[in-house]
Amino acid sequence: MGKIHAVITGISGYVPKYVMTNEEISQIVDTSDEWIMTRIGIKERRILKKEEGSGVGYMAAKAVEDLIRKTNLDPKEVEAVIFATSTPDYIMPNAAAMAAHRAGMTNAFCFDLSAACSGFIYALEVANAYIVSGKYKKIMVLAGDVLSVITNYTDRNTCPIFGDGCGAALLEATGEEIGIMDSIMRTDGNSLQYLNMIGGGSVNPASHETVDKNQHTIWQDGKVVYKHAVSNMSDTCVELMQRNNLTKENLDWVVPHQANRRIIDAVASRMGVSSDKVMINIEKYGNTSAGTIPLCLWDWEPLLYKGANIILTAFGAGFTWGATYLKWGYDPK
Ligand SMILES: CC(C)(COP(=O)(O)OP(=O)(O)OC[C@H]1O[C@@H](n2cnc3c(N)ncnc32)[C@H](O)[C@@H]1OP(=O)(O)O)[C@@H](O)C(=O)NCCC(=O)NCCS
Repeated sequence: MGKIHAVITGISGYVPKYVMTNEEISQIVDTSDEWIMTRIGIKERRILKKEEGSGVGYMAAKAVEDLIRKTNLDPKEVEAVIFATSTPDYIMPNAAAMAAHRAGMTNAFCFDLSAACSGFIYALEVANAYIVSGKYKKIMVLAGDVLSVITNYTDRNTCPIFGDGCGAALLEATGEEIGIMDSIMRTDGNSLQYLNMIGGGSVNPASHETVDKNQHTIWQDGKVVYKHAVSNMSDTCVELMQRNNLTKENLDWVVPHQANRRIIDAVASRMGVSSDKVMINIEKYGNTSAGTIPLCLWDWEPLLYKGANIILTAFGAGFTWGATYLKWGYDPK
Protein backbone atom coordinates (compact mmCIF):
# COMPACT_ATOMS: atom_id res chain seq x y z
CA MET A 1 0.00 0.00 0.00
CA GLY A 2 1.31 3.48 -0.89
CA LYS A 3 0.20 6.53 1.06
CA ILE A 4 -2.51 5.51 3.50
CA HIS A 5 -5.75 7.50 3.61
CA ALA A 6 -8.68 7.17 5.99
CA VAL A 7 -11.93 6.87 4.10
CA ILE A 8 -15.55 6.77 5.23
CA THR A 9 -16.84 3.38 4.02
CA GLY A 10 -20.30 3.62 5.57
CA ILE A 11 -22.58 6.20 7.13
CA SER A 12 -25.75 5.89 9.15
CA GLY A 13 -27.87 7.85 11.57
CA TYR A 14 -30.81 7.77 13.89
CA VAL A 15 -33.35 10.38 14.94
CA PRO A 16 -36.00 9.76 17.58
CA LYS A 17 -39.60 9.20 16.58
CA TYR A 18 -41.18 12.15 18.41
CA VAL A 19 -41.56 15.25 16.22
CA MET A 20 -41.69 18.55 18.09
CA THR A 21 -43.17 21.18 15.78
CA ASN A 22 -42.84 24.96 15.94
CA GLU A 23 -46.50 25.01 16.91
CA GLU A 24 -45.70 22.96 20.02
CA ILE A 25 -42.74 25.26 20.89
CA SER A 26 -45.08 28.26 20.45
CA GLN A 27 -47.34 26.83 23.14
CA ILE A 28 -44.40 26.68 25.59
CA VAL A 29 -42.67 30.05 24.93
CA ASP A 30 -43.64 33.32 23.27
CA THR A 31 -42.64 32.61 19.66
CA SER A 32 -44.15 31.58 16.33
CA ASP A 33 -43.56 29.28 13.39
CA GLU A 34 -42.99 32.36 11.25
CA TRP A 35 -40.24 33.77 13.55
CA ILE A 36 -38.44 30.46 13.88
CA MET A 37 -38.59 29.73 10.14
CA THR A 38 -37.41 33.23 9.15
CA ARG A 39 -34.67 33.71 11.76
CA ILE A 40 -33.42 30.12 12.14
CA GLY A 41 -34.95 27.97 9.37
CA ILE A 42 -36.24 25.15 11.55
CA LYS A 43 -39.70 23.66 11.05
CA GLU A 44 -39.47 20.75 13.47
CA ARG A 45 -36.98 18.77 15.55
CA ARG A 46 -36.88 15.24 16.98
CA ILE A 47 -37.02 14.64 20.73
CA LEU A 48 -36.03 11.44 22.51
CA LYS A 49 -38.87 10.62 24.89
CA LYS A 50 -38.41 8.22 27.80
CA GLU A 51 -41.12 5.97 26.30
CA GLU A 52 -38.86 5.36 23.30
CA GLY A 53 -35.44 5.12 24.94
CA SER A 54 -32.88 6.96 27.04
CA GLY A 55 -29.52 8.50 26.40
CA VAL A 56 -27.40 9.18 23.37
CA GLY A 57 -26.25 5.55 23.52
CA TYR A 58 -29.75 4.42 22.58
CA MET A 59 -29.61 6.41 19.33
CA ALA A 60 -25.99 5.39 18.67
CA ALA A 61 -26.96 1.71 19.02
CA LYS A 62 -29.69 2.14 16.41
CA ALA A 63 -27.31 3.93 14.01
CA VAL A 64 -24.53 1.34 14.47
CA GLU A 65 -26.96 -1.55 14.02
CA ASP A 66 -27.98 -0.10 10.66
CA LEU A 67 -24.37 0.60 9.68
CA ILE A 68 -23.31 -2.98 10.47
CA ARG A 69 -26.16 -4.25 8.31
CA LYS A 70 -25.32 -1.90 5.41
CA THR A 71 -21.57 -2.57 5.40
CA ASN A 72 -21.55 -6.27 6.43
CA LEU A 73 -19.11 -5.20 9.12
CA ASP A 74 -17.84 -7.74 11.62
CA PRO A 75 -17.98 -5.57 14.77
CA LYS A 76 -15.06 -7.47 16.26
CA GLU A 77 -12.78 -5.97 13.58
CA VAL A 78 -13.36 -2.42 14.83
CA GLU A 79 -10.22 -1.31 16.66
CA ALA A 80 -11.37 2.00 18.16
CA VAL A 81 -14.67 3.73 18.90
CA ILE A 82 -14.64 7.52 19.26
CA PHE A 83 -17.90 9.08 20.45
CA ALA A 84 -18.21 12.83 19.94
CA THR A 85 -20.90 14.02 22.33
CA SER A 86 -21.67 16.64 24.95
CA THR A 87 -24.48 14.53 26.40
CA PRO A 88 -22.95 11.14 27.25
CA ASP A 89 -25.22 8.60 28.93
CA TYR A 90 -23.29 9.07 32.19
CA ILE A 91 -20.31 11.10 33.39
CA MET A 92 -18.56 7.74 33.58
CA PRO A 93 -18.09 5.23 32.11
CA ASN A 94 -17.76 6.85 28.72
CA ALA A 95 -20.54 6.55 26.13
CA ALA A 96 -18.22 4.98 23.53
CA ALA A 97 -17.47 2.03 25.82
CA MET A 98 -21.14 1.25 26.31
CA ALA A 99 -21.97 1.74 22.62
CA ALA A 100 -19.15 -0.65 21.69
CA HIS A 101 -20.38 -3.25 24.16
CA ARG A 102 -23.94 -3.00 22.84
CA ALA A 103 -22.80 -3.49 19.24
CA GLY A 104 -20.28 -6.27 19.89
CA MET A 105 -17.24 -4.09 19.07
CA THR A 106 -15.43 -5.94 21.83
CA ASN A 107 -11.88 -5.56 20.49
CA ALA A 108 -12.01 -1.77 20.32
CA PHE A 109 -10.56 0.79 22.71
CA CYS A 110 -13.16 3.44 23.34
CA PHE A 111 -13.33 7.04 24.43
CA ASP A 112 -15.55 10.11 24.23
CA LEU A 113 -14.52 13.35 22.60
CA SER A 114 -15.88 16.68 23.81
CA ALA A 115 -15.93 19.44 21.20
CA ALA A 116 -19.62 20.39 21.19
CA CYS A 117 -20.98 21.02 17.68
CA SER A 118 -17.54 20.47 16.11
CA GLY A 119 -17.37 16.98 17.61
CA PHE A 120 -17.78 15.04 14.36
CA ILE A 121 -15.02 16.81 12.43
CA TYR A 122 -12.70 16.72 15.47
CA ALA A 123 -13.34 12.97 15.83
CA LEU A 124 -12.65 12.47 12.12
CA GLU A 125 -9.37 14.34 12.61
CA VAL A 126 -8.34 11.98 15.41
CA ALA A 127 -9.49 8.84 13.59
CA ASN A 128 -7.67 9.99 10.44
CA ALA A 129 -4.41 10.45 12.35
CA TYR A 130 -4.73 6.98 13.91
CA ILE A 131 -5.33 5.40 10.52
CA VAL A 132 -2.62 7.21 8.55
CA SER A 133 -0.16 6.27 11.32
CA GLY A 134 -0.56 2.71 10.05
CA LYS A 135 -1.43 1.32 13.49
CA TYR A 136 -5.24 1.11 13.01
CA LYS A 137 -7.38 0.09 10.04
CA LYS A 138 -11.02 0.31 11.18
CA ILE A 139 -12.43 3.00 13.44
CA MET A 140 -16.06 3.74 14.33
CA VAL A 141 -16.86 7.43 14.79
CA LEU A 142 -20.12 8.13 16.59
CA ALA A 143 -21.42 11.69 16.91
CA GLY A 144 -24.64 12.97 18.37
CA ASP A 145 -26.48 14.47 21.26
CA VAL A 146 -29.68 14.44 23.26
CA LEU A 147 -29.81 18.22 23.45
CA SER A 148 -33.39 18.14 24.74
CA VAL A 149 -32.05 17.14 28.19
CA ILE A 150 -29.90 20.30 28.41
CA THR A 151 -32.32 22.71 26.75
CA ASN A 152 -34.07 25.40 28.77
CA TYR A 153 -37.68 25.20 27.59
CA THR A 154 -38.47 28.56 29.24
CA ASP A 155 -35.85 30.41 27.11
CA ARG A 156 -37.14 31.35 23.66
CA ASN A 157 -33.61 32.36 22.60
CA THR A 158 -32.43 28.76 22.69
CA CYS A 159 -35.26 26.22 22.92
CA PRO A 160 -36.42 26.42 19.27
CA ILE A 161 -32.90 25.65 18.04
CA PHE A 162 -32.04 22.27 19.50
CA GLY A 163 -33.01 18.67 18.75
CA ASP A 164 -31.83 15.09 19.26
CA GLY A 165 -30.04 12.77 16.82
CA CYS A 166 -26.93 10.68 16.31
CA GLY A 167 -24.76 9.59 13.39
CA ALA A 168 -22.26 6.79 12.87
CA ALA A 169 -19.39 6.63 10.36
CA LEU A 170 -17.05 3.75 9.68
CA LEU A 171 -13.52 4.80 8.72
CA GLU A 172 -11.09 2.41 7.09
CA ALA A 173 -7.57 2.51 5.74
CA THR A 174 -7.13 2.61 1.97
CA GLY A 175 -4.26 2.98 -0.49
CA GLU A 176 -6.57 4.66 -3.01
CA GLU A 177 -6.59 8.44 -3.52
CA ILE A 178 -9.91 8.83 -1.66
CA GLY A 179 -10.97 9.70 1.88
CA ILE A 180 -9.73 12.52 4.09
CA MET A 181 -7.37 14.75 2.09
CA ASP A 182 -6.82 17.79 4.29
CA SER A 183 -8.25 19.68 7.26
CA ILE A 184 -7.95 22.78 9.39
CA MET A 185 -8.98 22.52 13.06
CA ARG A 186 -9.11 25.55 15.37
CA THR A 187 -10.02 26.42 18.98
CA ASP A 188 -10.44 29.69 20.89
CA GLY A 189 -10.73 28.87 24.57
CA ASN A 190 -11.54 32.45 25.55
CA SER A 191 -15.28 32.20 24.89
CA LEU A 192 -16.86 30.58 27.93
CA GLN A 193 -18.99 33.70 28.45
CA TYR A 194 -20.69 33.38 25.04
CA LEU A 195 -21.78 29.74 24.87
CA ASN A 196 -21.87 27.41 27.83
CA MET A 197 -23.55 25.05 30.23
CA ILE A 198 -21.81 25.81 33.51
CA GLY A 199 -23.55 23.40 35.89
CA GLY A 200 -22.61 19.78 36.51
CA GLY A 201 -18.84 20.05 36.04
CA SER A 202 -16.18 20.29 38.72
CA VAL A 203 -16.58 24.06 39.17
CA ASN A 204 -20.35 23.94 39.78
CA PRO A 205 -21.17 20.34 40.70
CA ALA A 206 -24.87 19.52 40.65
CA SER A 207 -26.71 20.97 43.64
CA HIS A 208 -30.09 22.43 44.45
CA GLU A 209 -28.58 25.83 43.72
CA THR A 210 -27.32 24.88 40.23
CA VAL A 211 -30.73 23.45 39.41
CA ASP A 212 -32.55 26.54 40.72
CA LYS A 213 -30.27 28.77 38.64
CA ASN A 214 -30.88 26.72 35.47
CA GLN A 215 -27.16 26.00 35.14
CA HIS A 216 -27.71 22.53 33.65
CA THR A 217 -28.96 23.96 30.37
CA ILE A 218 -27.26 25.64 27.41
CA TRP A 219 -26.90 29.40 27.52
CA GLN A 220 -25.66 31.54 24.65
CA ASP A 221 -25.17 35.08 23.46
CA GLY A 222 -26.76 34.30 20.10
CA LYS A 223 -25.46 37.34 18.20
CA VAL A 224 -21.81 36.79 19.21
CA VAL A 225 -22.04 33.07 18.43
CA TYR A 226 -23.65 33.85 15.08
CA LYS A 227 -20.88 36.26 14.02
CA HIS A 228 -18.05 33.94 15.06
CA ALA A 229 -19.74 30.94 13.42
CA VAL A 230 -20.01 32.70 10.04
CA SER A 231 -16.51 34.18 9.95
CA ASN A 232 -14.63 31.22 11.41
CA MET A 233 -16.33 28.52 9.33
CA SER A 234 -16.02 30.49 6.10
CA ASP A 235 -12.37 31.48 6.74
CA THR A 236 -11.28 27.87 7.29
CA CYS A 237 -13.30 26.67 4.28
CA VAL A 238 -11.83 29.33 1.96
CA GLU A 239 -8.28 28.51 3.16
CA LEU A 240 -8.93 24.80 2.64
CA MET A 241 -10.29 25.46 -0.88
CA GLN A 242 -7.30 27.59 -1.82
CA ARG A 243 -4.64 25.16 -0.70
CA ASN A 244 -6.37 22.17 -2.36
CA ASN A 245 -7.25 23.96 -5.64
CA LEU A 246 -10.94 23.55 -4.98
CA THR A 247 -13.27 25.89 -6.81
CA LYS A 248 -17.01 26.46 -6.91
CA GLU A 249 -16.97 24.22 -10.00
CA ASN A 250 -14.99 21.19 -8.78
CA LEU A 251 -16.30 21.22 -5.22
CA ASP A 252 -19.33 18.89 -5.22
CA TRP A 253 -20.78 19.36 -1.75
CA VAL A 254 -20.45 21.51 1.34
CA VAL A 255 -21.77 19.94 4.53
CA PRO A 256 -22.05 22.65 7.17
CA HIS A 257 -23.06 22.28 10.79
CA GLN A 258 -26.80 22.96 10.97
CA ALA A 259 -27.19 25.73 13.56
CA ASN A 260 -29.06 28.40 11.64
CA ARG A 261 -30.13 28.53 7.99
CA ARG A 262 -28.82 32.10 7.73
CA ILE A 263 -25.37 31.02 9.02
CA ILE A 264 -25.30 28.22 6.42
CA ASP A 265 -26.26 30.59 3.58
CA ALA A 266 -23.67 33.19 4.66
CA VAL A 267 -20.87 30.58 4.79
CA ALA A 268 -21.80 29.20 1.35
CA SER A 269 -21.91 32.70 -0.10
CA ARG A 270 -18.45 33.61 1.30
CA MET A 271 -17.13 30.36 -0.20
CA GLY A 272 -18.68 31.34 -3.53
CA VAL A 273 -20.58 28.03 -3.65
CA SER A 274 -24.12 27.86 -5.01
CA SER A 275 -26.86 26.75 -2.65
CA ASP A 276 -27.65 23.59 -4.64
CA LYS A 277 -24.27 22.20 -3.52
CA VAL A 278 -24.99 22.71 0.17
CA MET A 279 -26.49 19.92 2.27
CA ILE A 280 -29.24 21.32 4.47
CA ASN A 281 -31.64 19.39 6.69
CA ILE A 282 -31.97 21.89 9.54
CA GLU A 283 -35.68 22.35 8.81
CA LYS A 284 -36.50 18.79 9.94
CA TYR A 285 -33.97 18.04 12.70
CA GLY A 286 -32.80 21.44 14.05
CA ASN A 287 -29.35 21.63 15.64
CA THR A 288 -28.36 18.18 16.96
CA SER A 289 -24.83 19.44 17.81
CA ALA A 290 -22.22 16.77 16.95
CA GLY A 291 -24.93 14.88 15.03
CA THR A 292 -25.70 17.39 12.28
CA ILE A 293 -22.95 16.57 9.77
CA PRO A 294 -23.23 12.74 9.84
CA LEU A 295 -27.04 13.06 9.72
CA CYS A 296 -26.70 15.20 6.56
CA LEU A 297 -24.31 12.69 4.95
CA TRP A 298 -26.76 9.93 5.88
CA ASP A 299 -29.69 11.82 4.30
CA TRP A 300 -27.69 12.60 1.13
CA GLU A 301 -25.90 9.23 0.84
CA PRO A 302 -27.88 8.15 -2.28
CA LEU A 303 -26.57 11.22 -4.16
CA LEU A 304 -22.90 10.74 -3.19
CA TYR A 305 -20.45 8.96 -5.46
CA LYS A 306 -16.86 7.75 -5.27
CA GLY A 307 -14.40 10.63 -5.58
CA ALA A 308 -16.92 13.43 -4.92
CA ASN A 309 -15.15 16.47 -3.43
CA ILE A 310 -16.75 17.38 -0.10
CA ILE A 311 -16.00 19.98 2.55
CA LEU A 312 -17.39 19.47 6.05
CA THR A 313 -17.38 22.48 8.36
CA ALA A 314 -18.54 23.09 11.92
CA PHE A 315 -18.51 25.59 14.75
CA GLY A 316 -19.42 25.12 18.40
CA ALA A 317 -18.81 25.84 22.05
CA GLY A 318 -15.19 26.22 23.02
CA PHE A 319 -15.13 27.93 20.61
CA THR A 320 -14.21 24.98 18.42
CA TRP A 321 -14.36 25.03 14.64
CA GLY A 322 -12.76 23.77 11.50
CA ALA A 323 -13.16 22.26 8.06
CA THR A 324 -12.33 18.88 6.55
CA TYR A 325 -11.83 18.16 2.86
CA LEU A 326 -12.56 14.60 1.78
CA LYS A 327 -13.15 12.60 -1.35
CA TRP A 328 -16.20 10.38 -0.89
CA GLY A 329 -15.33 6.67 -0.72
CA TYR A 330 -18.05 4.75 -2.54
CA ASP A 331 -20.86 4.84 -5.07
CA PRO A 332 -24.51 4.55 -4.04
CA LYS A 333 -25.36 0.94 -3.22
C1 LIG B 1 -30.25 32.73 18.44
C2 LIG B 1 -30.55 33.41 17.13
C3 LIG B 1 -31.45 32.53 16.27
C4 LIG B 1 -31.27 34.72 17.39
O1 LIG B 1 -31.56 35.36 16.16
P1 LIG B 1 -31.33 36.93 15.99
O2 LIG B 1 -31.84 37.28 14.66
O3 LIG B 1 -29.89 37.19 16.28
O4 LIG B 1 -32.26 37.50 17.07
P2 LIG B 1 -31.84 38.53 18.21
O5 LIG B 1 -31.02 37.84 19.22
O6 LIG B 1 -31.31 39.76 17.56
O7 LIG B 1 -33.24 38.84 18.79
C5 LIG B 1 -34.11 39.68 18.10
C6 LIG B 1 -35.38 39.74 18.89
O8 LIG B 1 -36.07 38.52 18.74
C7 LIG B 1 -36.42 38.02 20.02
N1 LIG B 1 -36.41 36.58 20.00
C8 LIG B 1 -35.41 35.74 20.32
N2 LIG B 1 -35.84 34.49 20.18
C9 LIG B 1 -37.11 34.54 19.76
C10 LIG B 1 -38.08 33.58 19.43
N3 LIG B 1 -37.84 32.28 19.51
N4 LIG B 1 -39.29 34.01 19.02
C11 LIG B 1 -39.58 35.31 18.92
N5 LIG B 1 -38.70 36.28 19.23
C12 LIG B 1 -37.49 35.90 19.64
C13 LIG B 1 -35.38 38.58 20.95
O9 LIG B 1 -35.89 38.60 22.27
C14 LIG B 1 -35.16 39.95 20.39
O10 LIG B 1 -36.19 40.79 20.85
P3 LIG B 1 -35.84 42.27 21.36
O11 LIG B 1 -35.27 42.95 20.15
O12 LIG B 1 -37.16 42.77 21.77
O13 LIG B 1 -34.87 42.09 22.46
C15 LIG B 1 -29.25 33.71 16.33
O14 LIG B 1 -28.51 34.70 16.99
C16 LIG B 1 -28.38 32.51 16.16
O15 LIG B 1 -28.70 31.61 15.43
N6 LIG B 1 -27.20 32.48 16.80
C17 LIG B 1 -26.28 31.38 16.70
C18 LIG B 1 -26.84 30.22 17.46
C19 LIG B 1 -26.05 28.99 17.39
O16 LIG B 1 -25.59 28.64 16.36
N7 LIG B 1 -25.93 28.33 18.52
C20 LIG B 1 -25.42 27.01 18.67
C21 LIG B 1 -23.97 26.91 18.66
S1 LIG B 1 -23.35 26.31 17.18
